[in-house]
Amino acid sequence: MSNLKQILIHKKVCKSVWFMRQAGRYLPEFRNIRSQNQDFINLCLNSELSSTITLQPVERFDVDSAIIFSDILMVPYALGQKVTFTKNEGPKLDKFNLELFLSNNEEKFSIRLNSVYKAIEITRKKLEKKKSLISFVGAPWTLLTYMLGIKKNKTEVDLIELNKYENQMDIILEKLVKFICIHIKNQIDAGADVVQIFDSWAGLIPQKRIKDYCYMPNADIIKFCNKKNISNICFPKGIRENYETFNKFVKPDCISLDFDIDPVWARSKLSNVILQGGLDPKILLKSQKEIEEGATKYIQTFKDIPYIFNLGHGLLPETDPDKVKELIKFYRNF
Ligand code: CP3
Repeated sequence: MSNLKQILIHKKVCKSVWFMRQAGRYLPEFRNIRSQNQDFINLCLNSELSSTITLQPVERFDVDSAIIFSDILMVPYALGQKVTFTKNEGPKLDKFNLELFLSNNEEKFSIRLNSVYKAIEITRKKLEKKKSLISFVGAPWTLLTYMLGIKKNKTEVDLIELNKYENQMDIILEKLVKFICIHIKNQIDAGADVVQIFDSWAGLIPQKRIKDYCYMPNADIIKFCNKKNISNICFPKGIRENYETFNKFVKPDCISLDFDIDPVWARSKLSNVILQGGLDPKILLKSQKEIEEGATKYIQTFKDIPYIFNLGHGLLPETDPDKVKELIKFYRNF
């Protein structure tokens, strides 16, 4: 049985470690492939290369899980919205067209993402049985920050622009949830063990909308997962003390902590859920001593409950891979 299933389903206290963005720019072997594949979306659509990249951190560090190399923006791409990645600028999407968005159908959507499912099939065959293959999706709000072009920077959304969509938001969210669920089901059918739902920009939702834009759509996705018996992890990054309400409302199998959440607070306030992550990825830019002190806080706090060791967000591109290796060694020896 795969390692994450032992924790997520059987609630065993056993060791498990993987990192968000473990396949990415901090790895020279990734940069090598990337330099020969300028178009990021096309790289995500190359099943063989996607599988190779997915397995790079498993081969280098022997982490317990692989997360499929793809992107949350493959969903808007498959819904017909053009996505481009320009160096140092982040992702850019063509202007949102409601009519086009609503005209999408399930079959065409799945066909456009077929190579992602193929990558999962290839990877599952190559990955040891005890290791888990994690699939992922972006949560509706986080996808919409890109689709509607309302993200100003890392700390703000354009509320005037957001308000323009207020009357259509119910129908947009409903349709988006539907396609996200299809993408989850297809990835699990292709061989993924677990799904992680990234609500990376949940912290930017105006407080009066957090129920409508964060709790409810995430809860709908978790209801779908439960109906289909799909193990799930939610990551509502940046919502601070709202983690408690999120957990009670959404009831995921596992909740991933961001680096703002105090582990002791999490342990006392988040019940009936498996905990994951938390360690600030910036700590990996510091000395070995500081890394070990930071990691100890999490490992110690959660040592007698099921806990998946991970970071509070993705590995930064400037991270030294040897420090990642040392951290994993430290964790395993703890
Ligand atoms: O190893 C893994 O975690 C699996 C692969 C993965 C990627 N993106 C690959 C990627 C995952 C899980 C994602 C999720 C993702 N994508 C999120 C949610 C997680 C988070 O980080 O909050 C978001 C918000 C995106 C959208 C996105 N894609 C951004 C903001 C960027 C960075 C743009 C930039 O230039 O900094 C990407 C590109 C991306 N996705 C890269 C990778 C490895 C870097 C691409 C490159 O090589 O230029």
